[in-house]
Amino acid sequence: MTIKTAYFGFEVSDMDAWERYGELLGVGVERSAEGLFFRVDEKARRVHCIEGAADDIAWFGWEVDSIEELEQRRNHIKGQGINVEEGSVAEAQLRGVDQFFHFVDLNGTRFEIAHNLSEAGEFNSDKVEGGFVTGDLGVGHAAFNSNGHLADEKFMREVMSADLSDYIYQPMPDGSMMHASFLHTNPRHHSAAYAEGLGDVSVNKLNHFHLEVNTLSDFGTTYERLQEAGVVIAVSLGQHSNDKNLTFYAQTPSKFMFELGYGGITIDDEASWKPVIHDRISLWGHEFKQ
Ligand SMILES: [Fe+2]
Repeated sequence: MTIKTAYFGFEVSDMDAWERYGELLGVGVERSAEGLFFRVDEKARRVHCIEGAADDIAWFGWEVDSIEELEQRRNHIKGQGINVEEGSVAEAQLRGVDQFFHFVDLNGTRFEIAHNLSEAGEFNSDKVEGGFVTGDLGVGHAAFNSNGHLADEKFMREVMSADLSDYIYQPMPDGSMMHASFLHTNPRHHSAAYAEGLGDVSVNKLNHFHLEVNTLSDFGTTYERLQEAGVVIAVSLGQHSNDKNLTFYAQTPSKFMFELGYGGITIDDEASWKPVIHDRISLWGHEFKQ
C-alpha cells in the first residue's frame, strides 16, 4: 500500500500574483469563481489557491489507489486516536476528487486523503515541454517548519504509515542548527519533510512545496525565466545531499518558497535502504539568499 502526494491547497492574499506565478512556472492555469488551480499532468487540479489572509498551506492532499484503501487508511488513522472528518461534496468538487477525509498534523496542517482524482486530458506546456515527474511518485513534496522534528516524524510514521528516508542536521548561516526528518510513502525519496530550526511554525507552517521536471533543459529554462521576471531566488542552485535532487528555491507571492527539482533518486528497495544522518543539506550550492 503506497500513498502519493496528490495536491497542495494554499490560502493566498494575492490571487493575481499567483496567477502570474503559475504562468511563469509553465503549469496549466485555470481561474474561476471557485479559485485558482494549476495542472502539472493529466490530473485536473494539482494546486488550489483560495483567497485569504494566511498566505500559507491550507491543505495537503494525498491519494490512495482504491476505495478499499481509503477505508483502511480511515480506520487506521481513527485507530491512532486522530479526529477524522469527511470532506463535503462541495469540497470534493473543488479539489476534483471523488471523495476524501481530513485530519490535522501536530502543527495544525490539514491533511486530506482522497480517492480518484479527476482527469483533464493530456498535459501540454510550451514552457515545460518534457512535463513534470508525477505518476507513482505523486505530485512532489511538502517541507514543513517544525517545533519538534522527531514528534512530527513519529506522527508521519504512525498515522501516515510513512518510512524514514534520512535526517539532515545542518548548521545555518546564523550559527543555529537545523534538524530535519525526511519521510517517504512511495518510491519518491521524500513526500514530506519536517525541519526544526528553519522557520517559525507560528508564522508559516509550510516552508516550501516541491515539483520536479523530467528534463534538465526545462529545469534550466525555468530557472532563467523566473529570474528574468524578477522572482527572488531565495536559495541558489544546488544539489541535495540526501535525494541528489538538483534544485533551486524561489520565493512565491505567499510566505513560503517553491522548490523546483530535477534528477532526484528514488527508494526502490525498502529492505536495503538505510537511513543516515547527513551533516549538510547539499553536496554543493544552495546558498541562502534571505
Ligand atoms: Fe524540498
